[in-house]
Amino acid sequence: MKYLTLAMIFLSSHSIAQPPSKVAAGLSSRYKSFFPIGVAVSPRALQTDEAELIRGQFNSITAENAMKMGPIHPTEKSYYWNGADSIVAFAEKNRMKIRGHTLCWHNQTPVWFFKDSAGNEVTREVLIARLREHIFTVVGRYKEKIYAWDVVNEAISDKPDEYLRPSLWLKICGEEYISKAFQFAHEADPDALLFYNDYNETNPVKREKIFRLIKELKEKGVPVHGLGLQAHYNIYSPSKAQLDSALRLYSTLPVTLQITELDISVYPSDTSSWRKSGDTSTLFTPEREQLQLEKYRDFFELFRKYAANISGVTFWNISDRRSWLDNFPVRGRKNYPLLFDKDLAPKKAYAEVINFNDGNKLKGK
Ligand code: GLA
Repeated sequence: MKYLTLAMIFLSSHSIAQPPSKVAAGLSSRYKSFFPIGVAVSPRALQTDEAELIRGQFNSITAENAMKMGPIHPTEKSYYWNGADSIVAFAEKNRMKIRGHTLCWHNQTPVWFFKDSAGNEVTREVLIARLREHIFTVVGRYKEKIYAWDVVNEAISDKPDEYLRPSLWLKICGEEYISKAFQFAHEADPDALLFYNDYNETNPVKREKIFRLIKELKEKGVPVHGLGLQAHYNIYSPSKAQLDSALRLYSTLPVTLQITELDISVYPSDTSSWRKSGDTSTLFTPEREQLQLEKYRDFFELFRKYAANISGVTFWNISDRRSWLDNFPVRGRKNYPLLFDKDLAPKKAYAEVINFNDGNKLKGK
């Protein structure tokens, strides 16, 4: 009996130390000495053959939608936990890190947050109280499981002459909703790393605004620990120099950086120029494949260069089988933004990400 127990302990600790799927070299093993490599998933994907790919390639997970305000807190008195819980359970079972996404956003937030029972806009006090209740409940549920949260998402305006996005949060609460969200998240889980997360982060004008926001929050003593660069890029933009400048600037902030939503669309971001370009085919042509692999190569070279400041790189979706960029922003248009094709085979760009000389690491660290 004693031996049986010992054997069981040995077997279980052995399998904990080295699950078979992790033995095969994947992205996360290759980048082990740099940063975790994550992926955004739906609960459904974890029930398919994509689960095996995730286990073999990634060591961090983000819920693509399941933890957003709308899906998780659809009405004032109801929370829907099943989707988020299943992602957390999968990650724990496979010993993956979990990034929470996202606690306060202008999008995918149910209207009930902003209205009273008569349909009128709520006061600042009511909205702040709702935000607090939401954050305490969600962060509290996953305390000690989720190591990092995107607390505020996309608060900055894309218009060059406007600082903050004129969202209902800003209109009703003023700028203070941002610091409140961070304070609530910190109270709910003092050990969690708290991120501000945004897109268009390499744009020279928006870059300065993001820099300013983090700097000001820090100066005010707000518990913000990280900056998330969404990194929704495409095969034309940003240039390597532009990403380098952004990373150089952000590296001077007293926060850790994470690439939180990486993908490289095969179309330009401007839909009207795509329509006018004359190349409106929706195939993954050899030209697109080539441009994409060059971007993946260049961007990962930069991520390694700034590895001392970057504590995670997460892909937004698993494979070209399905991405949020299919049908968006152009209906009926297929995209191919990731490192694995629709059959889950690694694309040429994968080799560019994985084959590098470790010398780069020494420069970054
Ligand atoms: C933003 C959000 C993500 C996701 C993407 C599109 O980047 O932060 O949660 O909605 O848009 O999928």
